[in-house]
Order: sequence, then structure tokens, then C-alpha cells
Amino acid sequence: MCAEAMKKSNLLFLLLFYLLQVTMVLTDSNEGPERDSSADSGSLNLCISVVKTSGFNTIPEYIQKNTLNDVTIFHYDSDMDSKMPCPDWINSTAARREWNYMQFQTDRISYHITQGFESAVQQFNRTGSLADRNIYQARGCCVLYPNGTSASSLTHTFNGKDFIGFDFDRKTFVAPVHEAVVYKHQRETRSSLFNVLHFFGTQCVQNIQLFKTAPAILERKGQKSRIVYSRAEQMIKKSIYSTVQAKRL
Ligand SMILES: *[C@@H]1O[C@H](CO)[C@@H](O)[C@H](O)[C@H]1NC(C)=O
Ligand SMILES: *[C@@H]1O[C@H](CO)[C@@H](O)[C@H](O)[C@H]1NC(C)=O
Ligand SMILES: *[C@@H]1O[C@H](CO)[C@@H](O)[C@H](O)[C@H]1NC(C)=O
Repeated sequence: MCAEAMKKSNLLFLLLFYLLQVTMVLTDSNEGPERDSSADSGSLNLCISVVKTSGFNTIPEYIQKNTLNDVTIFHYDSDMDSKMPCPDWINSTAARREWNYMQFQTDRISYHITQGFESAVQQFNRTGSLADRNIYQARGCCVLYPNGTSASSLTHTFNGKDFIGFDFDRKTFVAPVHEAVVYKHQRETRSSLFNVLHFFGTQCVQNIQLFKTAPAILERKGQKSRIVYSRAEQMIKKSIYSTVQAKRL
């Protein structure tokens, strides 16, 4: 009885997940640039998105993009010889300094993401649920609402499922799966916690104020990084989608 019910609920879950993926793939295939709903509400949303993969030959193993309301202001990927140069439209001293700092921070972000990726691979390998192609995605954002308040979020996923998140109210990492507990402990040093709070809390909102004043930001859609990143996202969605399909059989 119980096993039967569990089977059913598992199947239902997979079906829901499958439908969600199909919706995502379908939405993707006829979309232009990705939409950011915050752009319509007068909110400003600064996000850092990172993808680290293994087993894909056609996309860089590591890609990072920083966007402000859907516009790429910084990008970096492991196939580039050097990091993106400072765009000429970032021309105030303060904005330039922050942009340079953003570039400097790619190494630290890359360190943490690689650490998370390796920990996930190791822990999921231990439980026998590792795929040939693995995808680690992280997205950290802050949003500045029209009423002047702000909010932050940070989540990491592994192969499309939540791996670790940060609770900004409780100032702590949250591990929704036991495979993430090792990484959670690695990240819970005083300096790491301070950095996350400072970076996605204080500094991120300050950066919104700096970069929103660059008029050219609104014209800079469709840059190379967006293409590289979108291509990676498309492949990743397809891969997660086929994994779900395989599980259904
Ligand atoms: C900075 O860039 C903006 C937009 O491109 C331009 O209007 C402004 O004149 C520039 N300022 C300086 C000091 O170059
Ligand atoms: C997974 O675990 C096996 C057995 O311990 C090991 O031989 C293999 O190298 C591991 N694979 C990865 C990708 O870590
Ligand atoms: C500000 O706006 C956000 C988003 O609409 C809302 O969630 C929040 O409660 C508001 N805060 C205040 C103090 O009005």
C-alpha cells in the first residue's frame, strides 16, 4: 500500500517536473531575450549568475554573467583569454572602481563555485546518483524596490535541483539535501558569511545605484556573453530534461 502510494507520488512529482521542463523548453524556443519581470515594476535587479559544467564539449566549463535588469554589465567565461575589459559607458570614477572590483571578485566566486561543484560531485557519487554530465548553477541577486527597500537571494542548484541556499534573515546557509551538508560547513566560516552578507546585501544595492545611472545600459542588449550564456542555458535545460525523461522510463 505504502510503496504503491509512494510510487504514485514519485511519478506525479516526475510528471510535474517533466511538464515544468517542457514548459521551460517551449517558452525558450520562441522567446527573444529573456524577460525580467522586475523591469516592468520599476524595481532594479542586479544578479550574478554562474554555470559550471563537466561533460559538455561545446560550452565553456565556467561562465559568469552579471546583469542589471536583464542587461549584461560583466561577463567572464573559462574560454576567454582575458576578462572582459571595462566598457566605455562605465565612465564615472566610482562606477569604474566598482566594475574593476567586480572583475577582481570573479576569482573568489569561481573558487566557491568550484568548491561547491566538487563537493556535489563527490557526495552524489557516494550516493550513486552522479550523471555523466553535471551542471552546477548559482544565482545571487539583490533587488531594489521603488519604495527604497531591498532584498537579496542566493541559491545554488546541482543538475537542476536545489543544492544550497542562503537565508538572509537567519544569516546562514541552508542545505535542503544531505549531500550539501559538507559544503554548507565549508561555507560557514565567519569571513565567508560576512562576505555573502556584505556582497549581496550592502554592496550589491550600492552597485545598482552606480550602474543604473549609465544611460547606455539600456542599449546594451544582446552582447556576446548573453549568447554564450543563453546557449549554455539551453543545453543545460535540454540535458536536465532528458535526465528526467530517462528517469520516467
Ligand atoms: C559618460 O557616458 C555617458 C553615456 O554614454 C555620456 O552621456 C557622458 O557624457 C559620459 N561622461 C563622461 C565624463 O565621459
Ligand atoms: C566515484 O567514486 C568511484 C568509487 O569510489 C571512483 O572510482 C570515481 O573516480 C568517482 N568519480 C568521480 C567523478 O569522482
Ligand atoms: C516595498 O516594496 C516591496 C515590493 O513591492 C514590498 O515587498 C515591501 O513590503 C515594501 N516595503 C515597505 C516598507 O513598504
